[in-house]
Amino acid sequence: MIIKPVKKLAGEVKVPGDKSISHRAVMFGSLAKGKTTISGFLKGADCISTIGCFKSMGIDITENDGIITVNGKGLYGLSSPAGILDVGNSGTTTRLISGILAGQAFSTELSGDASLNSRPMKRIISPLSMMGANITSKNGNDCAPLIIRPSSLRAINYDSPVASAQVKSCVLLAGMYAEGETSVTEPVLSRNHTELMINGFGGNITTKILEDGRAKATVTPGLELHSLEIEVPGDISSAAYFIAAGLIVPNTEITIKNVGINPTRDGILRVVKAMGGNIKCENEHLASGEPVCDLVVKTSSLHGTEVSGEIIPTLIDEIPVIAVIAAFAEGQTIIKDAAELKVKESDRIAAVTNALRAMGGDITPTDDGMIINGGRTLHGGLIDSLKDHRIAMSFAIAALAAEGETDIKDAECVNISYPDFYSTLDAISVK
Ligand code: S3P
Repeated sequence: MIIKPVKKLAGEVKVPGDKSISHRAVMFGSLAKGKTTISGFLKGADCISTIGCFKSMGIDITENDGIITVNGKGLYGLSSPAGILDVGNSGTTTRLISGILAGQAFSTELSGDASLNSRPMKRIISPLSMMGANITSKNGNDCAPLIIRPSSLRAINYDSPVASAQVKSCVLLAGMYAEGETSVTEPVLSRNHTELMINGFGGNITTKILEDGRAKATVTPGLELHSLEIEVPGDISSAAYFIAAGLIVPNTEITIKNVGINPTRDGILRVVKAMGGNIKCENEHLASGEPVCDLVVKTSSLHGTEVSGEIIPTLIDEIPVIAVIAAFAEGQTIIKDAAELKVKESDRIAAVTNALRAMGGDITPTDDGMIINGGRTLHGGLIDSLKDHRIAMSFAIAALAAEGETDIKDAECVNISYPDFYSTLDAISVK
């Protein structure tokens, strides 16, 4: 895919539904009794993998006029699938569903694509095993394919070494099937969509921020979930590309409508404001218990900043595009405490380093982040997306404000989270 620089951007963008919330709506709707409806569902490949898994476990899921209906069968209503559950490229599907499957009375095997099957699963195998689950890595390498066999689960108080919503959600979901109250304590609060949505469905997860700043979530087991009407807000992780574009492309003013700004997800807003970004939230309101607003973004004169510590989990998926913004800012940006980047859909420290260097950027990778010296004029280059959707989109944005053409390899990988990304970009581009 060739991306050329633009003169400016103008108009309105409506980003697709939040990926994390869309996954959870299908999963929890399947475990609830009755008809759950989901509007604003993200029809990206990852969420379609989640739908596929629950359909193969006997859940009727249909679409009409853009509304997804999940005919849930209750906590114990799933049935044994005929074959292997295909989780595609989706880490969220794999890790959350494993918690659910650990509590079922049938065996399952989960497998995904080459990237997914090389991502670390020990982080869920360990706590699930502590609960008495029978979960093994088929090839003995702590990665998928995973085999999960029936067993009875006991409650644990899990001290998670990483602030990961996928790990937290996996353990809490298994906890719904365990004897006793299960809790997960994480170093800092990660995205809390599971907690908010399970409570909306009639379950009970409480969260406490401890005196030392750690976050502890506790689930009551066995509560029957009832059906729900869910409105999925726009995904701030998808909005991030247009936030970046709005800031770095000259003579630009754009509005990004209906963006979820849950405080466990809004770190990018705080970072770009600290960099001098001209960005405003308008029309703030709640949608299905999640805060939402319209974002108005204008071309800005930006300066470098430090991104580290407890803000990291609130912007972990936005770091590739924050690195792009940093390349257009005067001075140095330091990103640290983000070693998790190495185990995403690609090693995003290496991927961002290679891509930014291909466009003439000054970036030094570190063990847990990167250092970017901004303010150089970038030029077009050949970008290897490594089939990682967030790398493809981040550097498509860099290309808008670079000199010359940029060629993005495997550009169609944006289908994972944002199938209409390139056409939306085109619609607001003035060439
Ligand atoms: C997600 C959690 C994050 C994030 C991922 C989606 C979720 O992963 O990077 O894209 O929906 O729970 P980790 O929990 O591994 O940090």
